[in-house]
Amino acid sequence: MAKADIIFDQAQQIFHLRNEKISYIMGISEGEILTHLYFGRRISSYHGTRDYLRYERGLSPNLAGAPGQVDRHYSKDVLPQEFAGNQTGDFRSPAIIIKAADGALATDFRYDSWEVFAGKPELVGLPQAYVKDTNEAQTLAITLKDKTLQASVILYYTIYAERAVITRSTQVINNSENIFYIEKVASLQLDMPKRDMDVISFPGSQFHERQVERQKLRQGITEFGSRRGASSHHMNPFVIAVDATTTEQSGEAYGIQLVYSGNHQFTFEKDYIDQIRLVSGINEDGFSWQLKPNDHFQSPEAILVYSDAGLNGMSQTYHHLLRERVARGQHQYQDRPIVINNWEATYFDFNAQKIEDILDEAAPLGIEMFVLDDGWFGQRDDDERSLGDWYEYTSKLADGGGLRGLSEKVHAKNMKFGLWFEPEMISKNSDLYQQHPDYALQIPNRPMSLSRDQYVLDFSRPEVVENIYQQMTAILDRVPIDYIKWDMNRHMTEVHSAILSADQQGEVSHRYILGVYNLVEGLTTRYPEILMEGCSSGGGRFDAGMLYYFPQTWTSDSTDAAERIKIQYGTTFGYPVSNMTAHVAAVPNPQTQRHISLKTRGDVASSGVFGYELNVQELTQGEKDLVKEQIAFYKKHRHLIQFGDFYRLKNPFTSNEAAWEFVSPDGSDVLVYHFRMLASGQQPFTITKLVNLIPDGVYVDQATGERFTGDELMYVGRYDDPTQAGDYVSQVRSYYLD
Ligand code: DGJ
Repeated sequence: MAKADIIFDQAQQIFHLRNEKISYIMGISEGEILTHLYFGRRISSYHGTRDYLRYERGLSPNLAGAPGQVDRHYSKDVLPQEFAGNQTGDFRSPAIIIKAADGALATDFRYDSWEVFAGKPELVGLPQAYVKDTNEAQTLAITLKDKTLQASVILYYTIYAERAVITRSTQVINNSENIFYIEKVASLQLDMPKRDMDVISFPGSQFHERQVERQKLRQGITEFGSRRGASSHHMNPFVIAVDATTTEQSGEAYGIQLVYSGNHQFTFEKDYIDQIRLVSGINEDGFSWQLKPNDHFQSPEAILVYSDAGLNGMSQTYHHLLRERVARGQHQYQDRPIVINNWEATYFDFNAQKIEDILDEAAPLGIEMFVLDDGWFGQRDDDERSLGDWYEYTSKLADGGGLRGLSEKVHAKNMKFGLWFEPEMISKNSDLYQQHPDYALQIPNRPMSLSRDQYVLDFSRPEVVENIYQQMTAILDRVPIDYIKWDMNRHMTEVHSAILSADQQGEVSHRYILGVYNLVEGLTTRYPEILMEGCSSGGGRFDAGMLYYFPQTWTSDSTDAAERIKIQYGTTFGYPVSNMTAHVAAVPNPQTQRHISLKTRGDVASSGVFGYELNVQELTQGEKDLVKEQIAFYKKHRHLIQFGDFYRLKNPFTSNEAAWEFVSPDGSDVLVYHFRMLASGQQPFTITKLVNLIPDGVYVDQATGERFTGDELMYVGRYDDPTQAGDYVSQVRSYYLD
């Protein structure tokens, strides 16, 4: 096995974290400041090429507390650092702000000590990348201290032996006798020298998640984040810093991803000499954490990836790490079942007969799991009631023997049975709200904002989490259930908890997320056999934090194939295909009213974890035959799609086409998808070139029997089919290595 090394060079006062792919180098500079020296492609050893250049700059303060004559050539204002303080000489975005007992907001953490561990210490109560064996990684813990505050910060850096990954997190400890307040604490800071860089972010909205935006970093602050209480559709907690020249297949890329599902912040700051700083972690807006003497606070984890093989190289590293060392449980590597979900077929308007009719049609098509979506509990006939009442709506499914009867019927058809929950919410019109109105997040004497006619439960309160746990386990213990769709359909307003003191209200949003993690950890531990899928009005909480508990996530409430091509393309930059569920919906599409052929809809959905979300009874015989073919195709290639290597080939955000490729780890099995968006009166001939094949291997087109060498498919490329008429057409080619 390859090794990860962590070296402390006493003479040079540097730390060098190194494996065969990457190096991460820090130094202890004058005044015991922990400086950043290098992160990138592995180097064998460091001999001072990035040591700080002494240079006097106007308006740049010099080091406070230095013994003897102050060096006017040395200033934190431009010094690349690992964890910058506030109001103590560096005017760029700080990594940490603490409000002391006297109200001061200054922080200045200096190097104190270091320790190295084999493996990776566990972050209690938080999602994280893990190791299975302590040989897989090494962890460096560097302690910094602010003597005035009597506070310590421990910076954790884990380097995996075989991955171009460094995970980072921060622990703050109060060693003083006073309470203080953490007003900001970054999970990571990354300073880089002057460089012409772009940043790629993944903004969006409901039905429109993870769009790909690339922009030039300019002097000043460029910031991405969420203050919605969830990682959100609106800005994914993942960004990529790239050289202006980096492409999909070449150049350097630095991925920064938070393993976190709540409010987040990525602040890029290009300073006045064009150096770049990134600071990222829990969003500082609305955050404040009271830290008592001897207490500590642990930040969420950040996953830093380096690639010198372009964006695809970076994505490969994330796909493998998230699939292999963030996702857990017995479904981690299991082929995921093909789903039929009743939501877009019936919405709330179903009964036992309607569901049985869907089952009767779906089972012979080869569908493997039925998911009963929203509407089976309380008095839930619409979205104005019953969230929080997780007991069966007995009269709705009475004729079919209730949920248990339905579960038996589904199982009798050799299908699995799944059920929808929205555990974090409460309707005003619910028994739970009648009994515990204070369970909803609210500020006394301030009107409460509704959204989708519901409120958010105060999951920062353990008794609220416990109430929902008891209700859910009562159902799950009684009804045989194979899968849960965990939904979350509104964001936080009036963020205030009845049980926290006035000066702890800034803790609510983070405590809420810890409450969510606690509940899902409890449920996944108690029911390891249940496959759980995250969802939040579609892909509103598509993040590495939820992936630690749920091996798959509903990618978007947009089931329109044209929109989905872009959403799925954008999602793959940071997340593996095994995490990304995709369903074929009816036409006209419920969200866009667009008509796209069943073939293209199938091809788009079969590029993820596949399923259907339509009324199968309304399909014509011809359509049913095609659905059967799609299902048979998916079953044949499912493992390759869900667990093979995935590469983006053509970008739908910048062209009229999209293309992507799945390759098995040994290069022997290849699947290529090509999509043309809009048709043209003079259709251009387009060529798709493949990547990562064996150059002198012979690849056979499974449909035509034509034979091509890998290098021909990669460097010459094949024409795409120009003959299909109309907009949004697709072509799938499959090859095997002879
Ligand atoms: C939002 C989800 O994204 C949909 O798939 C569906 O489950 C509805 N909620 C149900 O209310």
